[in-house]
Amino acid sequence: MATGVSATKWNCERNPIARTSAGADVSVTLSYAGKKSVDEILCGLKAEVFKVWGAADDAVKMENRLYWGDNLSILRGMLNDERIHGKVKLVYIDPPYATNSVFQSREQKDAYADLLQGSHFVEFLRERLLVIRELLAPDGSIYVHLDDNMAFEIKMIMDEVFGKEHFQNWITRKKCSTKNTTRKRFGNIADYILFYTKSDEYIWNRPFDPWNEERIAEEYPYVDEKTGRRYKRVPVHAPGTRNGATGGPWRGMMPPKGKHWQYTPATLDELDANGEIYWSKNGNPRRKVFFDSGKGVPQQDIWLNYRDSINQNMVITGYPTEKNLAMLENIVAASSNPGDLVLDAFCGSGTTMQAAYNLDRRWIGIDREEEAICAVLKRFNIGSEKMGDFVTDKAGKSYKPHELLDERNFVQSLFGTCPFQFLVAEDKFDQAKADFKVKIPESAKRSVLSDIAKKAVDPAIKAASLAMLAKAGGVI
Ligand SMILES: C[S@@+](CC[C@H](N)C(=O)[O-])C[C@H]1O[C@@H](n2cnc3c(N)ncnc32)[C@H](O)[C@@H]1O
Repeated sequence: MATGVSATKWNCERNPIARTSAGADVSVTLSYAGKKSVDEILCGLKAEVFKVWGAADDAVKMENRLYWGDNLSILRGMLNDERIHGKVKLVYIDPPYATNSVFQSREQKDAYADLLQGSHFVEFLRERLLVIRELLAPDGSIYVHLDDNMAFEIKMIMDEVFGKEHFQNWITRKKCSTKNTTRKRFGNIADYILFYTKSDEYIWNRPFDPWNEERIAEEYPYVDEKTGRRYKRVPVHAPGTRNGATGGPWRGMMPPKGKHWQYTPATLDELDANGEIYWSKNGNPRRKVFFDSGKGVPQQDIWLNYRDSINQNMVITGYPTEKNLAMLENIVAASSNPGDLVLDAFCGSGTTMQAAYNLDRRWIGIDREEEAICAVLKRFNIGSEKMGDFVTDKAGKSYKPHELLDERNFVQSLFGTCPFQFLVAEDKFDQAKADFKVKIPESAKRSVLSDIAKKAVDPAIKAASLAMLAKAGGVI
């Protein structure tokens, strides 16, 4: 909304205005070659997936899941799973941005290509958004992260898919530090997050930014002489004329022309008696609004504090377009509750899943690239590392997915506490078969089992591990 105060009635009779859109369909749609019908998209191929790793399926409870494969057919496959269809409370996606470039990881390995352009890009994303809409719970939300390449086109698509009335925010994020640009234009440090909800009734835990001394002094510049409390001064009148008490005099004074008092004279008297009215030298009243240190400042739609990989001490996975974990935690906390299901269909290094995990939400992540899958497995098994730290034996080391499903996870999976299931879709079957034919090396299996059998206190676990150890040809 513009910063001016809007009104509903146009008063000038000499120069009348007409509302031309009454009753007409005024929606704006984007048309382009190759735009498919909604049915065609929703009824397309559903992925066959097989589980490489993780706890046994539970008919009721949904384990966290990492999928390796193209997200469209995997998402469509979820339409058949009643634990997911209509149950996802929050989706965050950070898809390719149509940058026409390719990205490499910290180990200089190809991570992913971002080469789709124009209508091909728009339709690629629209297809996925349409399926995601079906998966979202009635009180669910979706956040789509983009930059200035395609944000405008995708805003129009989001309006079509989710309804313009469910648009909540166009968030501008400061993505990096100030640049010393040489191009003849302003430096580009912003990217954008489009926030929509499935309906008007949606989960919302309002985030607050903490106050700092500088900001308090700026916004609440006055100190009350009697109480020492900080306050700011705001008008006691508002635009528009009124016929009732708020349009009449208060203490012999009429509201300014074209305005009315914000409170009745009786309430204004009460405020004054409580020391909540400031009188200027000219006798003009203003309301004192006292600083309430409570929760902080409600967060606004410009985010300056979530830059990606800003210093050498920041811990990262090394995936090229890894997002700021605190930003994802902010989104997850605002638009979901503990236990809720969070989905990221372009998960990259798994920042969304880490945020969900940290905040006790369940998660589903999907990515089609091996580097991304490795980054997620590494994040959950080994953890992330300081950005500048290239000297540890872990940093800069390349892994294959099977190397990252290490003994720790293996043990967890034996006893049903694996933090996630790892599923592979058919487009990755061949690659996965080659990678996973060994799964866990027998020697590692034997040593882990023998360790558990030795240390287990629970007799059931001891017996299970001994039985498995015997089957694997080992002894304590
Ligand atoms: C910008 S990155 C996401 C980075 C992520 N937010 C993070 O914090 O690490 C986009 C990801 O989308 C994945 N991707 C692109 N097209 C895909 C598709 N059709 N199916 C699944 N993943 C895809 C890429 O492999 C890449 O990892």
